Amino acid sequence: MSTQPPVIAIDGPSSSGKGTVASKVAERLGWNLLDSGALYRGVAWAALQRGIALDDDAALASMTRQLVFDIKPGSIHIDNADVTQAIREEPISVGSSRVARLGPVRDALRIVQTGMRRPPGLVADGRDMGTVVFPSAELKVFLDASVEERARRRHKQLIDKGSNVSLSDLFASLGARDERDRSRPVSPLRADDDAVMIDTTSMSISAVVDEVLRHAVQRSLTGGGAKSGT
Ligand code: DC
Repeated sequence: MSTQPPVIAIDGPSSSGKGTVASKVAERLGWNLLDSGALYRGVAWAALQRGIALDDDAALASMTRQLVFDIKPGSIHIDNADVTQAIREEPISVGSSRVARLGPVRDALRIVQTGMRRPPGLVADGRDMGTVVFPSAELKVFLDASVEERARRRHKQLIDKGSNVSLSDLFASLGARDERDRSRPVSPLRADDDAVMIDTTSMSISAVVDEVLRHAVQRSLTGGGAKSGT
């Protein structure tokens, strides 16, 4: 039996709802939360700040090993700078998908990610949480949704934040980013063989959270039961 704190790995493409679902599952269980995408975004942000090319894998890996990440639910600091908002900008979304293709960057970030496996447990969301970073995760979930629905969700988020990006531009950029994430040679986005698949296209967030918690209970991961939802 594993002596390490348990992990729930939640993987899926952009805007499949995994970030929101992971944070609510972590809150209900009282577990730690890892938004691994924020780390890739942070690397892209730091590289752009320093003028490091987004395909220079040696320079990026060496920079990544020196970065100090402080990642908490709702905020991320890099070397004491609050980058919570900055890393959500569209150029960083694109840049993060480029640095995420590089094996040496992924290796450097894997150390940061596995270091977050702390008691009482970790809910980790990303693209390769179940396949590469936490292959021994007690529960692996793969969330998906149609690209149209995901573009609509992302569009709403951006409009709510005051941006006037067009739905068709988003649809194209989301599709291209997915394609890069799924087809890259290192740690491509894919569901692990033993992952629970959930199509969230027509599900509410709370229904998805309940479904994940149901699987957690089945695997006896809730240790006394999850907090009731809102
Ligand atoms: O989930 P996100 O959109 O914040 O992720 C940003 C980028 O980082 C995305 O292009 C995929 C990549 N990523 C990855 O390759 N592996 C992860 N575990 C998490 C994110």
